[in-house]
Amino acid sequence: MSIQIPRGTQDILPDEISIWQYIEEQARLVFKQFNYHEIRTPIFESTELFQRGVGDSTDIVQKEMYTFEDRGGRSLTLRPEGTASIVRSFVENKMFGLPNQPVKLGYIGPMFRYERPQSGRTRQFTQIGVEALGSNDPSIDAEVIALAMTLYHNLGLKNLKLVLNSLGDPESRQAYREALIEHFKPSINEFCSDCQKRLEQNPLRILDCKVDREHPAMKTAPSILDYLNSESRSYFDQVKKMLDDMGISYIIDPNLVRGLDYYNHTTFEIMGEGFGAITTLLGGGRYNGLVSELGGPEVPGVGFAFGVERLLLALQAENVMLPINETIDCFLVAIGEKAKEKSVPILFNLRNAGLSADKDYMDRKVKGQFKQADRLKAQFVATLGEEELEKNIINVKNMTTGEQEQIAINELEAYLQKHLQR
Ligand code: HAM
Repeated sequence: MSIQIPRGTQDILPDEISIWQYIEEQARLVFKQFNYHEIRTPIFESTELFQRGVGDSTDIVQKEMYTFEDRGGRSLTLRPEGTASIVRSFVENKMFGLPNQPVKLGYIGPMFRYERPQSGRTRQFTQIGVEALGSNDPSIDAEVIALAMTLYHNLGLKNLKLVLNSLGDPESRQAYREALIEHFKPSINEFCSDCQKRLEQNPLRILDCKVDREHPAMKTAPSILDYLNSESRSYFDQVKKMLDDMGISYIIDPNLVRGLDYYNHTTFEIMGEGFGAITTLLGGGRYNGLVSELGGPEVPGVGFAFGVERLLLALQAENVMLPINETIDCFLVAIGEKAKEKSVPILFNLRNAGLSADKDYMDRKVKGQFKQADRLKAQFVATLGEEELEKNIINVKNMTTGEQEQIAINELEAYLQKHLQR
């Protein structure tokens, strides 16, 4: 039996790749506009990084990591997300000492989680994200949200819902934690075993439970917003005001706690049309304790990430046609042995001049070569027969207008450069 692709992974085939490249290009463009610089970190890291960074009590660390021992006996893990790695790199490379603060980073790359594969949920997926480290100014929270909205808008998505919450500072969170424990304790035996563990470990995560969503105690749970101290409340108010001032609308959901442990203050998600239902396309928030947790100084951070696979589903659901136009500049049709030989250096010259060009390699008849030119969406077809070769000319056809001209072979490149539509 032939070997098959691992469950929860996918090949991105050549006829799909231009969509991916377009999305990545648009992301890099927006990174540039907002002055975020791309960073690339390893695909695997020490397991401990995610245990400490993402949090021991999270589903990711408890159930979803691809962890293995290398031949040197080290425990390594395929990265389940980007933030912990970037913070590790920030600390290791002492980026907190750079003159340009905050340090604004963008990333694009594969992540791995051992989840039950379904539409929009895979075991290898690609995240695009940003992290801004070093500033406690609420305008940077608003900036990363604005960046995300700009990118989605530029890609053509319309039906988006920005959901916002604040988990407050550690003091507010602690007060809320105690209130939650008190609230859930009397009925915790009616909850799933995960939630029973969460009660002491991390009661906020109970609010995020998919199993016990309908339990009456969920509906009467206290709201974090009632536990924010005045500083946390003021911080959140400023973020909201800045979003208002930029015309970015949002709804507040006090139950938005996110699945990773490092968040405080602002948390947000962007929901969109997905696989037949509204789904989370993107998640992010502020994580002020993470840099020091990972051995660095007290440096605050905020960021987000989204999955490209889910973005593609949303684009599909909204019937967005991306402006992708895959053509080649010129297809060379050669008739007869001598012309075929001559087509090799002609093609080489066109390519060296920066044009995209191709020819037949399958010994096709003239008609077949023209068909191939059509399939490749060639803008021009240059035809070389024995007769033309003798006169050192070549026949050029503009495939859009149907116009044909005969020109000197050595003028072909200049002719194409002049007439090509870019
Ligand atoms: P997250 O919510 O775990 O946050 O993931 C962010 C996004 O990655 C999700 O909204 C989804 O689009 C995509 N994603 C996650 N898991 C999968 C999966 N199994 N299959 C397909 N797509 C998936 C984080 O990862 C944080 N690091 C975000 C962040 C950055 N917070 C601050 N900075």
